[in-house]
This record gives sequence, structure tokens and C-alpha cells, in this order.
Amino acid sequence: MQNINEAKQRVEQLTFDLNNHNYNYYVLDNPTISDFEFDKLLEELITIETKFPELITSTSPSQRVGGQITKTFATVKHKYPMLSLSNSYNEEDLLEFDRRVKDGLQLNATDLFNNATIEYVCELKFDGLSIGLTYENGKLLQAVTRGDGVQGDDVTNNAKTIKSIPLQLKGNYPNLFEIRGEIFMPKNVFEQINIEREDIGETLLANPRNAASGTMKMQDSKVVAKRKLDCFLYNLLGEQIPFNSHYENLQAAKQWGFKINNDTKVCNGINEVINFIHYWDHARHQLPFEIDGIVIKLNQHQQQTQLGFTAKSPRWAIAYKFKAEQVSTILEEITYQVGRTGAITPVANLKPVALAGTIVKRASLHNADIIEKLDVRIGDTVFVEKGGEIIPKIVSVDFSKRNVNSLKTQYITNCPECGFMLQRKENEALHYCLNEENCAPQVCGKIEHFVSRKAMNIDSLGGETIVQLFKAKLINTISDLYQLQKEQLLPLERMAEKSAQNLIDGINASKQIPFERVLFAIGIRHVGETTAKKIAKKVKSIHALKLLNKEQLLEIDEVGETIADSILNYFNNPTQQLVLSKLIEAGLQFELSNEQLQNTSDKLQGKSIVISGVFIKHSRDEYKTMIEQHGGKNVGSISAKTSLILAGENMGPEKLKKAQNLKIVIINEDEFLKMIN
Ligand code: IVH
Repeated sequence: MQNINEAKQRVEQLTFDLNNHNYNYYVLDNPTISDFEFDKLLEELITIETKFPELITSTSPSQRVGGQITKTFATVKHKYPMLSLSNSYNEEDLLEFDRRVKDGLQLNATDLFNNATIEYVCELKFDGLSIGLTYENGKLLQAVTRGDGVQGDDVTNNAKTIKSIPLQLKGNYPNLFEIRGEIFMPKNVFEQINIEREDIGETLLANPRNAASGTMKMQDSKVVAKRKLDCFLYNLLGEQIPFNSHYENLQAAKQWGFKINNDTKVCNGINEVINFIHYWDHARHQLPFEIDGIVIKLNQHQQQTQLGFTAKSPRWAIAYKFKAEQVSTILEEITYQVGRTGAITPVANLKPVALAGTIVKRASLHNADIIEKLDVRIGDTVFVEKGGEIIPKIVSVDFSKRNVNSLKTQYITNCPECGFMLQRKENEALHYCLNEENCAPQVCGKIEHFVSRKAMNIDSLGGETIVQLFKAKLINTISDLYQLQKEQLLPLERMAEKSAQNLIDGINASKQIPFERVLFAIGIRHVGETTAKKIAKKVKSIHALKLLNKEQLLEIDEVGETIADSILNYFNNPTQQLVLSKLIEAGLQFELSNEQLQNTSDKLQGKSIVISGVFIKHSRDEYKTMIEQHGGKNVGSISAKTSLILAGENMGPEKLKKAQNLKIVIINEDEFLKMIN
């Protein structure tokens, strides 16, 4: 396409179509094309925009992939203050609210006599961070966080990466208005992030709410784009709002392209509100996102105006907060765990108690500050809660039951495993044991990570055997594994001839594990499985990686400040270097093989591919490797997100039907090989 006019027309058409497909997928949850077709259209748009940058608009779907860095977020004053809601916790509070509303509306005696009911709108109270989105002429102009309610941060670049936030509206919208809502992280996204963090020895994110607000504060919008945040909208503000009732306005906003929650309901009278709350107190656990209550709003704007606001919150709305389930039990002991990275976690060992469907025996005490703040002591009766957090937590102490002779908890000063003096850096919550070379859980944890399935896959070496070998002083670092002799193993308990041989064979076989997995296995902090793959593909060998300076490291996809610093630290640490040189000497793969070098490309970048059926030219595993080498991702089951299916003979009829329904492209072996060649 040479001609700018032609290009402009195509860009407009593609922008329209892609925005529409985005809406179908992320707002209506009803895609009409496959991901592969979507990606093709997006690629076409980006190609034209790269050629004619003057055609890039702020509403182009290409803006959603991120890339803009916000060093400091500008402070923006809210046009309408962002108030919060007053809270209620039980039926009595709600009846009281209903009475206040009726008083405020000055319903007359006849109305009250006839038991006049008020029209309320009940909405789910999404647990995330509030956001105000301003639209002008149908285009997203600005996204601002709540901040202190008077002014917040301009997070427009990051908000644009959230696919359910429309960049361009449809239909009959007002010229200028603000819409407010909640940005949140779906439960499955949160769980996946924590699985990945666990993989790289990072502390886990406490709950989806913190994860969402932490993400929105990130400087690199590309990283935000990967975090798959979502956004429900619930409040329309401006001078040309079309309808007189809140509910009708929400339905109008839905037509303009906003994601409005379908469980929003008009309730006649407070009793219907109470029923709605009862229902969601149970049903909330089935939702794919967290809610922490229900918001109740007067439906009619005229009535809202009549009631007005207090300094902090509207009088026409109230939040009902669900109770986190809570029980009391005895704190029997505080123990301290040492992680693979040396981080110390205090753990409360409790008298077992039933809570929210499970028996709770342990709860996290997080760090020394929390213990100090709670003033929790051994023998105390404590209240344990299962809220948004994954691990139950101690919320308070029942001081009335405290034994007068109880002693204040003294946080440990030395590592419970190796006795080394603990360190706590300024402004850090956690204590660390820095004796990483001799502290058993750190040493064994690192070796366990090294042999794990996604790393060196030495499945003949389990956690218990690692501890056994460590105690027998046979291994202290990952490189010691490659010095092990069968004769050294035989005297060990439960180690017969066969298991010793299996272990040695497994270790030897691991020498063929490809470079990207070795790079993940050696345990450079923050370098997870995916990052290791990206780095390996880019630098091709450990020697090349060692030569990179920080700037060059930052150029690698997925590598940010933290990872770059961590890689530099790794190469500057003499002990790590000694281990590395021994591993190189042992013959592990520290560069891409010739075959990998010839067979790598970005041709399948961003494509999710399902392999199905039986193949003739290569095995399934070989195809899986090829997909990864060319930048694609192997996925197990077909969904609307699948880009492509590589089908052999006898693809299952169910899969075939599903693929056809979702209009996913199916290709055979030959077509695939042609595609990557
Ligand atoms: S309405 C003036 N509706 O809860 C009315 N808020 O303490 C303002 N929230 O800051 C809020 N879901 O972040 C409203 N359906 C909903 C909500 C909701 C979650 C959050 C919001 C607000 C806080 C209120």
C-alpha cells in the first residue's frame, strides 16, 4: 500500500473492526473471530502505521500493547471529588439506612402508611482500585486514580492496555463526561502470576486487589498489558447524562461500549436489597473476580440530589461489607521458615480449627512488624480470618484471655536453620539469612529448583534425597551433582544399586537439557522460565550474556531493571562464577545448539497453538519444541484465545467441532513446516 489516502481508509476500517472485536471479546465475552484472525488484522494495522506514523491515533488498537513508559505519574485534580462510601455490616445497619433515606426524602404520612418502597440499585462491590475515565467526543482522554479523593495520578497509558476499557465509543454518547469504575485482577490471572513468582523464588502477591493497584503503578505499560487487568464501570458523571435514573444510565453506557456488570439489579425496597445481599454472600465465591460487598444506590437522580453528600460520602448510597469468616483459637508456637532466597517468614502454629470449609493449623505472621503491631504472644487466644488472602491471617488477639505471665514475643536474631545472624535492610519488611552457601534450606531449595521438571528435569532426585545428600556432605552446590559417583551413594540409607544408578543416569542425561532451561535452572534471581527463554534466544550463549552491560540487558524483551541488576550481580559473584565454571566443565549446554540456531525465529511470536492428533514427520514433542523455538506458545486446550491448531491424523471430533465453531485456523504438518521454514 503506497498511497496515504488508501492507507488512511484501511487504518480507519481496521481500527473500527478491531475495536469492535475487542468489545465482543472483552466486554460481551462473545468473540466472533479467532485470535489468529485478530492478530493478523492487528499486524496489518501495525505494519501500515509503521509505514505511515502520521496515521497513528490515540484510539488505535495498536496503542493497547503498551510500550509507553511513565517515569512519574502526573497529578490531576478531579473535576468531581472521588468520594468513598459509608459502610454497613448487618441488616440493622441497612434498615437504618433505609429509614434515613425515607426521612431525607420527606415521604409523607400516606406514603409511609402505604409502606412506600424506595427504588435502589444493588451492585457488586468490586475489590480493586477505583478509576475515573474521561471521554471527549467518544475518545478516551484521561484515566485518573482516586488518590486522596481530591487529586489522583494520571495513569492513562496503563489504562489503555486494559482491553475492556474502550478507546473509542459507539452510539449516542455525550460529548464530554466522566465514567468511574473499578480496575481489578481476575482470580485466575492472580493465581497464575503467583505460580510464576513461586517459580522464581519471589514472595507471593497477597491478594488480587494489591496486585491490581501495584500493576497500575508500574512505569512500563508493556508489563501492565501482560497482567490482564479488567474493569467494570459503575458511575456516570457530567452535564449531559442522558437518563434520570442510575440504572438506565448504566444500560446506556453499556451500549456505548463500557463493561457494566450484568448482575446489577433494581430492587424495590430494602427487603429486596437484603435478599440480594444474602444471595451474593454465598454466590460470590463462584465469581471469577473478588468482591468484598454490595453497593446500594438510590436509583432516581432527583432523589440522589435531594439527599446530597456528607463531607466524605453520598447520603444516597451505602456499601454493605461481607464478613470475612473469622474464628478464635490458641497460638501454640511461632516457627520461622527459611526460603530458597534466604527470606524468613514467621508462621503461627495454631490449635487446629475449622474455618471457611478447611481446617486451619497455620497462619502467616508475615514479618516482625506485624508481630509487634498485633502484640501476639505464645498461648494467646487469637482471631483468625480468611479474607482475600490465600493464607489465613491472625487479625487480632483476645487480650481478655491473655495469661498474665505471658512474655512479649522476641523476633529471632539468628537463622533457625544455620544460626547465622539475620539481616534486615533499611525499609524492608523481611529479615534475611545471607548464609546462602551453607544454610540447608537455601542450599537444598536451590538444588531442588535446579532439578525440577521445568529446569533440568532430574526426576530421579527428589527433595528428600537432596537433603540426605546434603547432610552426607556430598552436595553443597548444584555443580556438586555432576561430581557424584555411584559408590558414594550406595552406603546411604534407602539407596539401592538400582536407585543409585538411576540417579547417576538422570544427572548425566541432564547434560543434554537445552541452554534456555539451564539458564532458568541455575537460579539467577528473578529469571523465570519465560525470561530465560527470551534471553537464551536473544544472546545465544552464557558467554555472550556475561559480556552484556546494563543497557544492553535492558534491550532484551522481558528484561527490566530488577532482572538486569540481578544478572549483573550473578556474574559479579565469585562463588556463583565458580559454580558456573564447574557446570560448564561438566558439559552442560551453555549455548544454543546448531539445530536451535538454525531453527529459531519470531514467526510464531504471540501465537497460542494447540497440537492435536498423530503425526508422521516429527513427534509431538518435536513439534512442541519447534513452536517454542519460533516464538509460539503451546497450549493444551482449544479456546477463543487459540491462534492456530496443528492437526495430525485422527484429531478428536469434539476438538474439531470446537475449532470449527470458533473459526480457528487448522493446519497440517506440511503447512506448519512450510510456515516456519
Ligand atoms: S460507587 C460516590 N459502586 O468501593 C460513590 N463503588 O468505598 C462512589 N467500589 O472507592 C463509589 N464497587 O472503589 C461504587 N459498584 C460500585 C463499587 C464501588 C467497588 C469501590 C470504589 C469506592 C469504594 C467505596
